[in-house]
Amino acid sequence: MNLPGFPVVRPRRLRTSPALRRLVAETQLNVAQLVLPLFARSGKKLRRPVEAMPGVFQLSPDEILREAATAHALGVPAVLLFGIPDKKDAKASGAYARNGIVQQVVRLLKKELPSLLVITDVCLCEYMSHGHCGIVHGGKILNDPSLKLLAATAASHAEAGADIIAPSDMMDGRVRAIRAELDNEGFSDTPIMSYAAKFASAFYGPFREVAESAPSFGDRRSYQMDAANANEAIREVALDIQEGADMVMVKPALAYLDIIRRVKTEFGLPTAAYAVSGEHAMIKAAAANGWIDERAVTLESLLAMRRAGADILITYAAMDVAKWLKIS
Ligand code: PBG
Repeated sequence: MNLPGFPVVRPRRLRTSPALRRLVAETQLNVAQLVLPLFARSGKKLRRPVEAMPGVFQLSPDEILREAATAHALGVPAVLLFGIPDKKDAKASGAYARNGIVQQVVRLLKKELPSLLVITDVCLCEYMSHGHCGIVHGGKILNDPSLKLLAATAASHAEAGADIIAPSDMMDGRVRAIRAELDNEGFSDTPIMSYAAKFASAFYGPFREVAESAPSFGDRRSYQMDAANANEAIREVALDIQEGADMVMVKPALAYLDIIRRVKTEFGLPTAAYAVSGEHAMIKAAAANGWIDERAVTLESLLAMRRAGADILITYAAMDVAKWLKIS
């Protein structure tokens, strides 16, 4: 570009009033883009706070319904469900139990709030006694035997009425296995949003306290991605799309904006960014100390994800954001 320079060109001309700034804004935040993660466990009137995640609770089904109804009334179109089972074992039985906690909550939400989109996280870690996302044998996380359990979990969620299936385990071939099982069980119209580029991240720390899913030995580096790798993220996403993913996710979000941009540019699929627990905790902690403006920093961070190319924003702050967008 060969632009004329100053004084003919004055970029500040387009910044002189709020209306003018809005008119030329390249990116918008909209309540329709938000997804609220929720954590279900059995019980009644249970609203158990989590120390590392202010404003996030383990909720019994009746409380999930209340929370989801409030979010829905604010215009939030979707929730992402996680479950904390009563019992964990070495084959994650609670994950694919017909009447497991997530399956129960999906049925309740779809009955009471049919127009709310219910996305279910498909993983085994919350249901495994050892906290890993696959079957463990001899200290190793086995890939292929885990696929069967993941596929069964996905089908049980679809059977309960889930609108979107979101596998987060990072086993190779899981999207193909889940797509095949869903099709086989009569759910060929149920879309898959895969956690396609999911990094082994220290930003998941607080989540593992909420979901009670910290691995009891080792870490997740043999299945989740190395933070050093961007080309590999593109290969991961390409594989998931080949295997049948309808939407793809990059996770975490703020420290991986380059990945979001590359994924959106390369594939053009609906792309979700997950602002994970550690990102949320950092904003909350700094705000609680009076060091940053919570609302401004939250909105700026989400706008950055949109600018990077994210269409869908998964955030623990979804309800606050919905309120802020109403009044701004
Ligand atoms: C399950 C799962 C995790 C998160 C979403 N699904 C944790 C992990 O991989 O250890 C993290 C979400 C967050 O930190 O907010 N595998």
